[in-house]
Amino acid sequence: MQQQKKEAGKKGAPEPTLQQVLNGFPAGVMIIDRSERIIGFNRFFEEATGLSEQNVRGRHFRELFGKKGFPEDHPLLLTLTTGKEFSRIAPEKFLPFFSPCSAYISTHVLRGASGEKAGAMAVLWDARRQQELEQAVIRAERLAIMGQLAAGAVHEIRNPLTAVAGFLQILKKELEGTPRVEYVDIMLDALERVNSIIGGFLRLAKPGLPQRKPYHLRDLIENVLKLWESEGARRGIAVNASFAPGLPPVLLDEEQFQQVLLNIFNNALEAMPDGGEIKLAVEIDREDDLIRITIQDTGPGIPEAVQAQVFEPFFTTKETGTGLGLYISRAIIQNHGGEIVIENNPERGCKVTIILPQA
Ligand SMILES: Nc1ncnc2c1ncn2[C@@H]1O[C@H](COP(=O)(O)OP(=O)(O)OP(=O)(O)O)[C@@H](O)[C@H]1O
Ligand SMILES: [Mg+2]
Repeated sequence: MQQQKKEAGKKGAPEPTLQQVLNGFPAGVMIIDRSERIIGFNRFFEEATGLSEQNVRGRHFRELFGKKGFPEDHPLLLTLTTGKEFSRIAPEKFLPFFSPCSAYISTHVLRGASGEKAGAMAVLWDARRQQELEQAVIRAERLAIMGQLAAGAVHEIRNPLTAVAGFLQILKKELEGTPRVEYVDIMLDALERVNSIIGGFLRLAKPGLPQRKPYHLRDLIENVLKLWESEGARRGIAVNASFAPGLPPVLLDEEQFQQVLLNIFNNALEAMPDGGEIKLAVEIDREDDLIRITIQDTGPGIPEAVQAQVFEPFFTTKETGTGLGLYISRAIIQNHGGEIVIENNPERGCKVTIILPQA
């Protein structure tokens, strides 16, 4: 007989018992039947209360309160009698054995086959994860408000700067021909730098809705390549672009789209310090009315450990990177109703795919 059981165990794993299922449940579970007897008590509850399942099983729930006395308005009992369910009960209010901890309890009615009340269940939730999430939301909201304030302030800095630049231009004319004109040029240069930093910040804080017009992708991409190619060639990077015939026009914000392409090309360039190749292809997905742009490089690709983070703002693996290139690019593409995906090529390097809806 013993032998037979062993054999059966060998052939197929035995099914878990109800108690094993309860113990494997990632929260505390305690169940009482209609007559308030405890019929379920899992390991999570054991650990939180110090009571053992064997000791409490079959006992009346009220007995657990001992001399302290059972509160007649206990939530689990109210759930059993009135059907009202509770959430976020503090554990120490539920049973005298709990010391205050980061958890809360909810109560639920259990019903039989024809809907009649058959018992009640208490679930003990670990609240730490939830509290962490709540904290993260509060932090994110604060950051968003600070971002808006900062964007407002930065925007206002532009007006006085414009006045300063205007008067510097006048001074420059007056000082023309004297050695001091050089100071004015330095100041104007510095102002221009401040302005471009402000512009970058404002684009980040508020990428803005794209001003879309129908463009021929081929023209647009070839323009960007012209801008970029000499820099690429200087670093030993060849660019090969191919365009599917009969590409339909696409609704795009030219400046924003250029920014996306430049971010991706720059990433490829930075990934290939010893030169390499960038392959760009534009294809039409006629079935889904989509345009697919893929940009592949022959660099080392993205290490698996950082792949999930590359679109996060300020995530960078570069000493001088800001970690905003892909973050901004994704915001722009999403504002265009598209998608951007970055993955490693099976053979080598990194592959960025931009999917855009057809006009
Ligand atoms: N073509 C690529 N090959 C390998 N890794 C890449 C590639 N493109 C992006 N990455 C990884 O993704 C990270 C984030 O890229 P992202 O463009 O957002 O920021 P960055 O290039 O580090 O800084 P920034 O673009 O703001 O100057 C990079 O630091 C790099 O680790
Ligand atoms: Mg970058």
